[in-house]
Amino acid sequence: IQTDIPSAKDEVPFTLGAAISRAQTIGEHSDLLLKHFSGVTPGNALKWDATEPSEGEFTFGEGDYLVDYAVEHGLTFRGHTLAWHSQTPDWVFKDGDRDLTASPADKALLLTRLTNHVRTLVGRYKGKIAVWDVVNEVVDENQPDGLRRSKWFQITGLDFIRTAFRAAHETDPAAKLFINDYNTEFPRKREALYALVKKLKAEGVPIDGVGHQLHLNIEQPPASEVEATIEKFATLHVDQQITELDVSVYPDFVSTYDEVPAEVLAEQGYRYKELFDVFRRHKSQISSVTVWGLADDDTWLSTFPITRLNAPLLFDDELQAKPAYWGVVDPAKLP
Ligand code: G3I
Repeated sequence: IQTDIPSAKDEVPFTLGAAISRAQTIGEHSDLLLKHFSGVTPGNALKWDATEPSEGEFTFGEGDYLVDYAVEHGLTFRGHTLAWHSQTPDWVFKDGDRDLTASPADKALLLTRLTNHVRTLVGRYKGKIAVWDVVNEVVDENQPDGLRRSKWFQITGLDFIRTAFRAAHETDPAAKLFINDYNTEFPRKREALYALVKKLKAEGVPIDGVGHQLHLNIEQPPASEVEATIEKFATLHVDQQITELDVSVYPDFVSTYDEVPAEVLAEQGYRYKELFDVFRRHKSQISSVTVWGLADDDTWLSTFPITRLNAPLLFDDELQAKPAYWGVVDPAKLP
């Protein structure tokens, strides 16, 4: 890795995190991670399918490994995620072969499973995981009430959210508890999430913060929309974190490059600069910014929504600093 460039984490006034799996803790990837980042989030290791594949049988292989790595190296750890509609095994929403329903007995069974899951994960890493994404992607701005019609919601209404936050808070009162979502930079989603957080906080649900994923692309939405979101949530007096930042080099779901043109990488650098200008201006609201991957050799965007070359992160697939890195660290060096 390049040793003669500044450590990115020293150039920003908040925790700078990266999503990782075991691969990023080995060899040069680990060197790069430890030089530039002060926090980590497991990309998949603590999701329900990884941690409780069948009822009451918990598996913590990669989770324990990553938490130990973070503790050893003094990295802040974001726990991701306790309740989500995706990457959750079918058994959670079933009783034998039967689908759970909104009947009182089924609802109680699902909330008991949730409580057990939350207590087990939060308890296992008490004192080691500082921040949890307690619920992930519960908003759907296209519903009249703004709430995603997940199985969680269909069976329990909002009670799964209340239960998950309360169980997490009881288990580790010091952990910071977040509600995390994507597209919060778009006005309708922003408003729907805002209304939900406001309502739950008024009820006394222990929500400490709002996570903005920020999966963006090279063209849109503008950084001013990100800023409008941060300002809106500041009025609720919650902590805010950028939890999954990346900038796709494509403005749409169909284009492909054989090789990403230099001018596109430069444009991406300016995009990162604009975003970090916003984050720096709001450093009293934003406690952490996490990019969703360490380097372009391992990013979910190279397989989603189609398999194509993508390059959304700060370092290239040979772990070299891109214009995106300079946009964060020293915009004067942008091409
Ligand atoms: O581990 C298996 C491997 O054994 C198998 O050979 C391979 C073949 O497809 O799949 C591997 O599992 C994949 C896993 O990532 C690990 O790489 C899954 O198919 C794939 O679906 C999974 O994708 C993850 C995605 O969440 C699933 O929803 C991405 O890595 C992860 O970065 C992504 O993260 C989400 C956040 O949790 C929430 N916000 C959106 C974000 C991006 O989608």
